[in-house]
Amino acid sequence: MRFCDLIVKKRNGQKLSEEEIKSMIKEFIEGKIPDYQMSAMLMSIFFTGMSNNEIKYLTMAMVNSGKIINLSSIPGIKVDKHSTGGVGDTTTIALAPMVAAAGVPVAKMSGRGLGHTGGTIDKLESIEGFKTELSIDKFIKIVREVGISIISPTSDLAPADKKLYALRDVTGTIESIPLIVGSIMSKKIAAGADAIVLDVTTGSGAFMKEYKDALKLGKIMVDIGLELEKEIVAIVSNMDEPLGFAIGNSLEVKEAIEVLKNRGPEDLRNLCLELGSYMLKLGGVVKTPEEGRNKLIKIIEEGKAFNKFKEIVMAQGGNLRVIENPELLPLAKYCLKIKADKSGYIQKIDSQLIGESAMILGAGREKKESEIDLSVGIVLKKKVGCKVGTGEDLAEIYYNNSKKLKEAKKKLLSSFTISNKKPKKSPLILATISGQGIKEFL
Ligand code: URA
Ligand code: CA
Repeated sequence: MRFCDLIVKKRNGQKLSEEEIKSMIKEFIEGKIPDYQMSAMLMSIFFTGMSNNEIKYLTMAMVNSGKIINLSSIPGIKVDKHSTGGVGDTTTIALAPMVAAAGVPVAKMSGRGLGHTGGTIDKLESIEGFKTELSIDKFIKIVREVGISIISPTSDLAPADKKLYALRDVTGTIESIPLIVGSIMSKKIAAGADAIVLDVTTGSGAFMKEYKDALKLGKIMVDIGLELEKEIVAIVSNMDEPLGFAIGNSLEVKEAIEVLKNRGPEDLRNLCLELGSYMLKLGGVVKTPEEGRNKLIKIIEEGKAFNKFKEIVMAQGGNLRVIENPELLPLAKYCLKIKADKSGYIQKIDSQLIGESAMILGAGREKKESEIDLSVGIVLKKKVGCKVGTGEDLAEIYYNNSKKLKEAKKKLLSSFTISNKKPKKSPLILATISGQGIKEFL
């Protein structure tokens, strides 16, 4: 069948067979399907969707476009974690060391930031010397010795996702449930963990703006994980305002260190404890998530979580002094305070606009090949529900280049909605999804 006929088939809402999906991914990777045809296919999928079976075939075809990492030489149940993306979301950097300190090995591959969302790998690179591009052998060795390693995916891990993601990013086809599931689950399956905890974000800073879409996305990912014999839990979390106060690479490392030191913002800490409690449960070191949560709180209080972070920094070549003295992290030259022009309650903080504002400052990439500035970003002084007086600080902008400051400031200001009524704050954790079903907390 000509590939054009397959595009028409999908465009008309018909189902593709396993063979058709397999050959599509194989030929795309081999360069036999040009980007313009694949773009049309992606847009057809975006509009007509895919059945659960088609999504499973797509995921497996993407897994098989590269290598599957064998983690069997690491003792214990290896648990992976993935977020569908957020703003100011430094969860992994705080969460992974606490989980490792609790005795669950964490072999984590993380991404770089793109568009308005940040990426763990960029953030970690703001620690002087920290290496994120390691061989798989070295990665496994560190997990065996330290219990944790976080690296950038090697080029042979689900290469179909790299090629497809780049195309989706420039063709308006990111926010498609089948394509997000294929992208995330193929990477998770290829990365070789036994169990997976997913953070499915929803709200203004997430790809799934609507809660019901996030729930659907989480449910499909859990179903596919279960079918592929992975233990899996998904949490739907609220990304209607940025997580924590800091947005920007080195600023977020500082914030993660705060959480590891038993301080730090409440929402970020709570999300870590929630995701972590399930990681401990799936990792077999506790019987219930509640027990997991208490164990993590104790580990943080005893300083073991922060010590584990120091161990990973050392193992990956980072400068320990920077972790012990976070003021040594790169910090932008200038700081501008953004003040409220009226009084009231903070009703809304549009995370996407904040993410875009940080990107304009240089914290994120507009294009894949853009250079980023690890030292710039935004620190919020008020979150949703806070009272604010006229002239009071809403946020601080850390910047090096005043050329784009005006644009960033305008976006940042427009992200805040202030009004007289005290807003009803929705919970941070909206639902959990597992083999046992869905629990909602709304
Ligand atoms: N994160 C991913 O890795 N892939 C997506 O498609 C969306 C978020
Ligand atoms: Ca943050």
